[in-house]
Amino acid sequence: MTAELSPIDKAKYAAARKSVDFVENGMKLGLGTGSTAAWMVRCLAERIRNEGLKVTGVATSSRTADLARELGVPIVGMDDVKWLDLTIDGADEFDPNLNLIKGGGAALLQEKIVATASDRMIVIADAAKEVAQLGAFPLPVEVVPFGWRTTMALIEETLYSLDVLNREVALRMDESRPLKTDEGNFILDLNLRRIGNPRQLALVLNQIPGVVENGLFIDICDIVVIGNGDGRVTVR
Ligand code: 5RP
Repeated sequence: MTAELSPIDKAKYAAARKSVDFVENGMKLGLGTGSTAAWMVRCLAERIRNEGLKVTGVATSSRTADLARELGVPIVGMDDVKWLDLTIDGADEFDPNLNLIKGGGAALLQEKIVATASDRMIVIADAAKEVAQLGAFPLPVEVVPFGWRTTMALIEETLYSLDVLNREVALRMDESRPLKTDEGNFILDLNLRRIGNPRQLALVLNQIPGVVENGLFIDICDIVVIGNGDGRVTVR
C-alpha cells in the first residue's frame, strides 16, 4: 500500500495505520477530514474487511462520508448516536499541550462538534505539524455569509484590542468564489503568525456575532500519533 508514496504521505499513512489500533469492536467513531484522515478511513476499512470489525462512523464532512461509504465503513448521522467513543482526525498544527489548529480542509465546525462529543480524540499528523506555539498556520474561522464583511471587521477590531501584532484576515476562495463549507458558511483565515493565548482567543472569537466556530481546539485532543517519513510513529 505504501511502496510508491512520498515521505509525507508515508508519514501520514504511518500515523493513520497506528491510530486504528485504538479502535475496538462495537465502537462509535468520529471520522475526521483531510488527507491524513482519509488514510485512516482506508485503514479502518481494511480492518472491517479483514477482521470483521464492527463499528459505526460519524463523518465530519461530505468528503469523508463519501469515502467511507465507498469503502464499506458504515456511516450514520451525529443525531443517530449523540455520543461517540473515539474520534480520529488530522490537524494543521498541534502544540506541546495538544492544543490544535484545525480547519485547513474547511470542516472545522463538524470536526469540533464530533470531537467534543467523543470520550477520546486522537489526532494523527506528520511530524511537520508539531509546533512550539500555534499560529504559523492561518487560523480558520467559520462565519455566516450574511454580513461577513462586518464580521471580518469585528474580528480585526477584536485582534487589535488583544494586541495581536500580525492580523491579516482573508476570505477563503474556491477558484473565484468564496469557498462554502458543508454548512453553507464562509471561512476567514486569520494570519496571526503566533497565538500567545489560544484559550482566550478561542473564547473571544466565538463571542462575535456572525462567527459560527473557530479552528482552535483547546483541551479536546487526548493523544497525538505522529508519523515520520521512514514509517516510524510516536504516540504522545
Ligand atoms: C480539515 C482539517 C484537517 O484535519 C487538517 O486540515 C489536516 O489536513 P491534512 O491531513 O490533509 O494535512 O482540519 O478541516
